[in-house]
Amino acid sequence: MAVIEKKANETIEAHGGKLVNREVTGAEREQLLNKAEQFKRITINAWSISDLELIGIGGFSPLTGFLGEKDYQEVVENLHLADGTVWSIPINLAVTEAEANELEIGEHIALYGEDDVLYGTLELTEKYSYDQEKEAQLVYGTTEEAHPGVKKLYEKGNVYLAGPISLLNRPNHDQFKDFYLDPVETRQLFQDLGWKTVVGFQTRNPVHRAHEYIQKCALESVDGLLLNPLVGETKSDDIPADIRMESYQVILKHYYPKNRTRLVIYPAAMRYAGPREAILHALVRKNYGCTHFIVGRDHAGVGDYYGTYEAQDLIAEYEAELGIQIFKFEHAFYCKKCENMASQKTCPHDKSEHVHLSGTKVREKLRNGEALPRQFSRPEVAEVLIKGLQRGSN
Ligand code: ADX
Repeated sequence: MAVIEKKANETIEAHGGKLVNREVTGAEREQLLNKAEQFKRITINAWSISDLELIGIGGFSPLTGFLGEKDYQEVVENLHLADGTVWSIPINLAVTEAEANELEIGEHIALYGEDDVLYGTLELTEKYSYDQEKEAQLVYGTTEEAHPGVKKLYEKGNVYLAGPISLLNRPNHDQFKDFYLDPVETRQLFQDLGWKTVVGFQTRNPVHRAHEYIQKCALESVDGLLLNPLVGETKSDDIPADIRMESYQVILKHYYPKNRTRLVIYPAAMRYAGPREAILHALVRKNYGCTHFIVGRDHAGVGDYYGTYEAQDLIAEYEAELGIQIFKFEHAFYCKKCENMASQKTCPHDKSEHVHLSGTKVREKLRNGEALPRQFSRPEVAEVLIKGLQRGSN
């Protein structure tokens, strides 16, 4: 595998060239908090709050706000922003028509959470209607409501609000405070650690043996691994983030070299958009300072909506433009004859020798109260998951 050689202290460029910072702090923040009391207010859900945060802290660089219509159409139809920067998933703020009718172009709007916290403000530059089925088909590859990302899309209001945002309050991540860093901080961390090459790993599952295998294959070629689990909204049968976080700490402690791995949360919502989401996941990790990103089998997939290597095929088309190197891994399994993890690329034995594992299988076994075999999961991880699921999420 070719590895990008980087000079000392040279960090990877943010997507679009410059790390965005839309967070307002200090006296300016106090002023805006006061002014916002006079602004019209709308209530936004947890998903939109996480989008607001990621725009604000630069995770979604070069976005400075929610997408305007031209950008939106380009992203949906051509996987690019209007200025030609590759971008695969539209980041929008939806409201109902009734809500939109109350708002004037040019005014500033206060964005409150359901918890009555003022998270930020939006300078409204556009409001436009959009075609949900078209977005579903082009972004998710299906119009079926059974798809969890499409279901969320259909629940949204019919009008998108666009414009630059200001972030006033980050959502509360106290639960994971030891593992919360923004892109400026991860970039600094990598420099401090002397990591010139860093591979980012996205997951919404506990780390099973196939994950560990592909992470460690990658780690053979780069300086560090950023285990960057998504902890925003996921579908209800995914393992809750707090239980997963406990399992990540346990596996890192027992099976990974301390000086070459870091655990940091990725506070986004999961779209389950497969190939398109793999591109988003990669460019966000570039913003966090990773030079490499792992895409394995059915990345960000759900059910049978995407082919096993569809995400790899799509991301390969955009890899040069993305500016982050993609480590693509074949479906990994445990081979009883090899007594090791392997893939079709490395194992000569018959399929009957292979134990296939996936997040879905791990979840199924846990739900049925079955033990997780060692070929699936490290025993320390299995213990955390079983106890966590018995106890329930915090
Ligand atoms: S998700 O966020 O992509 O939905 P998941 O935890 O299922 O999370 O997978 C994390 C990463 O590991 C993805 O890149 C996925 O393609 C890869 N992966 C998961 N299982 C395997 C496997 N058995 N073999 C190879 N890659 C895998």
